[in-house]
Amino acid sequence: MDLFRKKDINKLTENATPLKRTLKTWDLTFLGIGAIIGTGIFVLTGKGALTAGPALSVSFLIAAICCGFAGLCYAEFASMAPVAGSAYTYSYIAFGELIAFIIGWDLILEYALAAATVSVGWSGYLVDLLNSVGLHIPTALTAAAGTTPGVSTVFNLPAFLIVLLITWLISVGINQTKRVNDTMVIVKLGVVILFIVCTVWFVNKSNWTPFSPFGWYSHHNGSATGIIPAASIVFFSFIGFDSVSSSAEETINPSKTLPKGILYSLLISTVLYIGMTLIMTGVVKYPVFNKYLNAPIQAILHATGQTWLSIIVSVGAILGMTTVILVQLYGQSRISYSMSRDGLFPKFFGEVNPKYQTPYKGTWFFGIITAIAGGLINLNILSELVNIGTLTAFTLVSAGIMWMRHTQPDLHRGFKAPGVPFTPLLSIVFCLVLIAGLNWETWVRFAIWLVLGLCVYFGYSRKHSVMNKA
Ligand code: ALA
Repeated sequence: MDLFRKKDINKLTENATPLKRTLKTWDLTFLGIGAIIGTGIFVLTGKGALTAGPALSVSFLIAAICCGFAGLCYAEFASMAPVAGSAYTYSYIAFGELIAFIIGWDLILEYALAAATVSVGWSGYLVDLLNSVGLHIPTALTAAAGTTPGVSTVFNLPAFLIVLLITWLISVGINQTKRVNDTMVIVKLGVVILFIVCTVWFVNKSNWTPFSPFGWYSHHNGSATGIIPAASIVFFSFIGFDSVSSSAEETINPSKTLPKGILYSLLISTVLYIGMTLIMTGVVKYPVFNKYLNAPIQAILHATGQTWLSIIVSVGAILGMTTVILVQLYGQSRISYSMSRDGLFPKFFGEVNPKYQTPYKGTWFFGIITAIAGGLINLNILSELVNIGTLTAFTLVSAGIMWMRHTQPDLHRGFKAPGVPFTPLLSIVFCLVLIAGLNWETWVRFAIWLVLGLCVYFGYSRKHSVMNKA
């Protein structure tokens, strides 16, 4: 049996579902921003500032450049194979079944844990907001055990509940409609811009010195510090733009609009992120964030005395993070559905509920696991695992572009990534640098996940793949 049997790109495109093409460049850009801006900027900037100091904005720039190169490769694949399934389907075409399985397995981890990570960020803001209006959830139920030094916590109940609520929404088929998404994105952008406009006046340039207290890469108290390790952490802030490429079948003139949608949403997020981080590290000295790891924005609002803004920003952050959880859980359920349809996962995950027309059982199966992860695991562990999973997917998609140009040069490509082979090569180099910036524990956890995946592939998927019938 051939481990590298491939899907035929022409058949895939022929069988593509005849969905209605309605999305234009700005719709895609909004979709991208809806999936991108969330826990990364609202929560992880605290840890990022402690890791890089004021040079955090440089870390954001590095992560953005990495995503820009990978984004061009995603856009070329999406224009070649405008079908659902994102990196999983692209790898099936380029490298064959085994690699596709590994990427699918990797994406399940990425999407599920990204949703869990964002749910923990969401919970932090909710608990803060409730406290500010005098409502208190028992402290033991506000975070996973051992995550808040000096405070005894057991389980993150809000994180657990929001994941279950959104799982229910997705399982009954309430997809993220364009209008709901657009409204949430406008609220989110409005809050970020309001924050920038209200706080920029309080920047004290002396807080930016020293600008890069930990250099590019160093070690302090047993963990990696500096611009690169911080870039590896805040890379999480850009995850989500790949969801734009999943709408290839619903886009008008995808070869033009997809790359624009991906690049515009990345560009807008990058400009806002860099503005915000410069302000955040300029208003307070970066060690202050140690006390505000759950909601670093509050450090700034307390310092400037704008507590009135704090409620508005918290509501915006909560709404903004809700869309991110939704997109991630939706992506997760669609990947396990595609893998089940291809025979790589049991039928259970692909069974469509006749009433709701959704992969109901698979959605709940992973939804419950994700909710438990959100309730029990520390945000930093979760986000680093998501980052390594995503960086691996980016690396394979970029390598896939080089491979396809080499093996199938005549295939129709609506969009060609400029500067091949340098663009995908640079994407791979940036991804590897960011993987290197993560803690070694993350590499080990990821390796365990991949070994587990290989056991599933050789124990089940290889025998049940629908390609056996071909
Ligand atoms: N980029 C998304 C976030 O920061 C996953 O929440």
